[in-house]
Order: sequence, then C-alpha cells, then structure tokens
Amino acid sequence: MSKSILLIIGGGIAAYKSLELIRRAKERGIDTRAIITKAGTEFVTPLSVSALSGHKAYTDMFSLVDETEMGHIQLSRVADLVVVAPATANLMAKAANGLASDLASTSLLATDKPVLMAPAMNVRMWNHAATQRNLATLKADGVHFVGPNEGAMACNEFGPGRMAEPQEILEAIERLLAGPGPLSGVKALVTAGPTHEPLDPVRFLGNRSSGKQGYAIARALAEAGAETTLISGPVALAPPQGVRLIEVETALEMQAACEAALPVDVAVLTAAVADWRAQSPANSKLKKSDSGPPSLALTENPDILAGLANHAKRPTLLIGFAAETENVLAYGAEKRARKGCDWIVANDVSTGVFGTDHNTVHVITAQGAESWPELSKDAVATRLAVRISKALEKVA
Ligand code: CTP
Repeated sequence: MSKSILLIIGGGIAAYKSLELIRRAKERGIDTRAIITKAGTEFVTPLSVSALSGHKAYTDMFSLVDETEMGHIQLSRVADLVVVAPATANLMAKAANGLASDLASTSLLATDKPVLMAPAMNVRMWNHAATQRNLATLKADGVHFVGPNEGAMACNEFGPGRMAEPQEILEAIERLLAGPGPLSGVKALVTAGPTHEPLDPVRFLGNRSSGKQGYAIARALAEAGAETTLISGPVALAPPQGVRLIEVETALEMQAACEAALPVDVAVLTAAVADWRAQSPANSKLKKSDSGPPSLALTENPDILAGLANHAKRPTLLIGFAAETENVLAYGAEKRARKGCDWIVANDVSTGVFGTDHNTVHVITAQGAESWPELSKDAVATRLAVRISKALEKVA
C-alpha cells in the first residue's frame, strides 16, 4: 500500500533541501502534500513545491477557505506521517506550547498521526535553554527527531543546527512508516569498541577495535524497534540514529554502565575489552630515566560478559562475541560455556577483519553452530537482529 506524508516546510535556509526530500520520497513511492509557512515561502516557492509533489502547496489558513479544498483537520490526518523540515526554533516553540496561529501550527495541533521533526537553526538558537526545553517537551509528547547535524552553518558559525540531509530524513520517514518493528517493546544493550586503560595522564593500553560491528548491531536493533543503549569505548564513528549512546573509556566504566542499564531483554557484547589495566596508573606523565623503561604492573580487568551472566538481573538473551584466529568453532564453544552466555558470535579474524566493513561469523548456541557466509557488517547486524527477535519470541 502506498504511503503519504504531510510535509511542513518552515522558514529556514535549509528549506531548499526539502525540495530534494520531496523528489526522493516520490522515488520511494511516498506521496507528499506540503504546507509552507509564511517565512518558508521566502526560501521556496509554492510553485516549485507543487511541481515536485504533484499537489497544491498550501501556504496559510486562507488557502483553505474554498469548501472544495481539504480542511486543515483533514489535511493533517490523510497523511500517514507529518514531517516538519526544516523545523525552525519558532515552529518547535509553537508545537511545544500548542499554539495554533497559522496553518502549519494548527495542523500540528490537529493531527492524530506521528510527527517527525528535522530541526534547522543557528547553533546558539539550538543550544538556547528555551529550545532545549521545547525539545524535551516535544520528545515527551512523542514527537520523533532526526538531526540536527553538526557542521559549518550558513550563518558562518559551527556546531549543531544543520538540518539532517534529505537521505537521513527519508530513512527516518521510512522507519516510522514501517510501523513498530519486530523488537518493539524490547530493551537492548550493546557494547562496542575498545577500552582504553590509562598508564599515565597521556598514555593508555588499547586495541584496534573499530567498533563498526557493534555500532551496526545497535542500529539494526533500534531499527527493528528495540529501545537500545549503546555503551561505547573510544571510536571514530557517528552515533547511530535512535540509539542512547553512553561513552566510556575504561573496562571498569564500561562494566558500571552495563550494570546501570539493566534490566534488558537482550545484551550483545561486542566490545574488545582490555584484559588488563595498570595496577596503579601514574598521576603525572611518566618520564624517561637512566634506569631504563618502567616496568608496568598489570592487574586483570573484570569480565563484563561473565559478570552479566551471573548477575541477579541477567539479560534474557546474553550474546558475546569472540574474535579468534584459529579453531574458531571450538574456541567459540568453549568461550560460550566458560562465560555462561547464551550465544557466542565467533568471528574469524585471521584474515584481518579489524576496521573493515565485512565479517565472517559463526553463531554458536546451545543447539550448535551456524556458519554465515562473508557479509557486510551491516548485513551481519540485520541478520542478527532478526535471529534475536525470533529467539525472544520463543521465550515470551
Ligand atoms: N568480554 C568482556 N569483558 C572482558 C573481556 C571480554 O565482556 N573483560 C567479552 C567481549 O565483549 C566478548 C567476549 O567477552 O563479547 C569475548 O571476548 P574475548 O576478548 O574473545 O574473550 P577473552 O576472555 O579475552 O578470551 P581470550 O582468552 O581468547 O582473549
């Protein structure tokens, strides 16, 4: 069945991107009707919007006086989703306070459909306490958000405030139009990346984990509807949309954050946790001395996975990862038993998987091992999310 959106175009320089959004939505079979606010018409014309959407572009209450036209209540309800892009500070403020002073704000108040906002404004306006208060109110009212992104802005400032790109907005639209996913109502926890264990204020013990697989899993779980918390060591990746990100540095911080996130239905621990940390990290930078290199006394880090397996609030489905270079299945099965988790996703890292975009994994469960072909890390994540939803269905 084809889907439709009501697009409210606010008055911001980013409004030109909404034209691109209409075009891309059409390519994906999504029909768009549009309302342009008065300020919005300073940036895009009703003519270009109607030419792209194939429908009249509505501009204010007076464009609806003709009885043959769609009333504002109907306009806000025939669509499956209302999208506000750009969502200016003014539009957010009106919506947060229930004002109905023009066609756009009236439609937002009258709709019974989900609402997605793509904010776009100057960084100071975005950071202002009033806007942040409105954002919190709108989120509490169930409004969904995509962006804003951080970057250089038209006003020559830098920071959060740039509207999300049309492709990102479209992805968010498609997610919302798809309705609740198979994991809606499920709470998920994912760990990712390396941990850094300080030796002194400037040096640390670390490893080469990129975090890509864990981030992809968090995104796939969130896309499937799970309320997902991602606890991440230091990585160079953008936080996935719709995921609660908690950034940590050390194994002890990661363990504390994991325990604080319980209870969850499923936990997927992909992090490459450092096995050891310095017994007593130096408070000041270690200096070279005539007596040669310092000797480092190390102590073992807690095993977070094994800890969760024995926790009073043990996740219903507990999944560990195992990077192995040989005897992948045997070592994976042994690790599953030793750590007390339900599944081990064992990956063969002998071919150098770190930092790459593909992965070859074996899912080891109580029933045996399933070997998956070489897949992109995104595809591994999607497949794992499907596998998880099936397993949780059985438990429920
Ligand atoms: N893990 C953990 N806490 C640790 C070490 C590992 O939670 N301190 C988790 C990892 O996130 C992963 C799984 O345990 O899900 C297996 O990690 P791996 O490093 O392969 O396990 P080790 O116990 O370190 O095994 P090995 O002896 O092969 O290094």
